[in-house]
Amino acid sequence: MNKIDSIGHSVFFEADFTSLRALLDERQYSKVFILTDRNTGELCLPLLIAAMPESFTYDIIEVDPGEENKNIDFCIGIWKMMLDFDADRNAVMINLGGGVVTDMGGFAASTFKRGIDFIQIFIILLAQVDASVGGKTGIDLDAVKNIIGTFTLPQAVFINAGFLRTLDRRQLVSGYAEMVKHAFIYDSAYYEQLKAFNFDEPSEALIYRSVEIKNAVVTADPKEAGLRKILNFGHTIGHAIETYSLDNDNSPLLHGEAIGVGMICEAFLSQRHNGLSEAELAEVVAHLRSVFPAYQLKQESFGAIIATMRNDKKNSQGRIGFSLLKGLGECSYNHYLEADAIEEALVYYQSL
Ligand SMILES: NC(=O)c1ccc[n+]([C@@H]2O[C@H](COP(=O)([O-])OP(=O)(O)OC[C@H]3O[C@@H](n4cnc5c(N)ncnc54)[C@H](O)[C@@H]3O)[C@@H](O)[C@H]2O)c1
Ligand SMILES: [Zn+2]
Repeated sequence: MNKIDSIGHSVFFEADFTSLRALLDERQYSKVFILTDRNTGELCLPLLIAAMPESFTYDIIEVDPGEENKNIDFCIGIWKMMLDFDADRNAVMINLGGGVVTDMGGFAASTFKRGIDFIQIFIILLAQVDASVGGKTGIDLDAVKNIIGTFTLPQAVFINAGFLRTLDRRQLVSGYAEMVKHAFIYDSAYYEQLKAFNFDEPSEALIYRSVEIKNAVVTADPKEAGLRKILNFGHTIGHAIETYSLDNDNSPLLHGEAIGVGMICEAFLSQRHNGLSEAELAEVVAHLRSVFPAYQLKQESFGAIIATMRNDKKNSQGRIGFSLLKGLGECSYNHYLEADAIEEALVYYQSL
């Protein structure tokens, strides 16, 4: 276990960055830029540098942490720094961060001088298991997330569970949502293993299996023709709750926390509409409730939550599409449900 081959690039699981050193040796880039945010620059960059040879030379570009900075202004800052440092087309950008740094750094690199190479080092659990394959880069424009971006593959992706030691527990729990989603939709044996997931010492082997599942689904459906939709389990309702929470709560839910709520609601719908057994529903719900904090879902939020689902660009003609479990480890897509069925699921969540 140390490498997953995806379409066009590999995901390396390495503590010592052997393959990164080999890649940099082989390519002989004219310049190496490392993009970090303030936190990852302080907490994680030293670990990377310690693994590199003394002769390793690089320029650091640092951005402010946070989704609100994943925008064109920071991108312009990155491009200007690269110009100031005389970057040519043979420069490389190493993005060391969570989804904000890797999305924005990937975008900045994929557009600078019509595209220079970039390498992603994911150091946040959610990004490791969710963003390592697929090659999406991007920034937000005003309130619209990821609206400007490219599909550009990195030269390589690196995952090293050692970086997760400095990550706070809430972020780990949020990332776990995507891992357990992979188990629910694809692999019941993996679900059994995940039950032993230790948040104090996140297992690289379990992270590996998650990336492997995501990669299997993405490579089986490269053009997003259908199967990939199973990755949306928990996300139709979860994403709408996340949006509601961002707009209304003092301390909004993280993405994975909202997906934790969404998976409970959609497991309920799976039992009602797709053959998930009562016992499996009880198992899924008990597990999710043992990991994720309960969310105070208010009756008065239902209208806004369902309206968000209707407006989602993934739906057509006002119909709301779901990916639902058929059993533990099996998922099917293109289930269209009406508002009253969805409301029933929200009421179910409230009743727990
Ligand atoms: N490209 C994709 O396929 C893809 C997939 C999922 C999410 N995303 C994007 O990712 C973004 C969210 O990213 P995120 O959730 O990773 O958040 P983030 O990048 O904002 O990181 C969250 C916080 O954790 C800190 N941090 C990161 N790693 C750390 C570490 N190892 N130790 C200590 N602190 C650390 C960061 O400095 C930041 O303050 C969204 O914009 C989303 O659109 C992209
Ligand atoms: Zn997600």
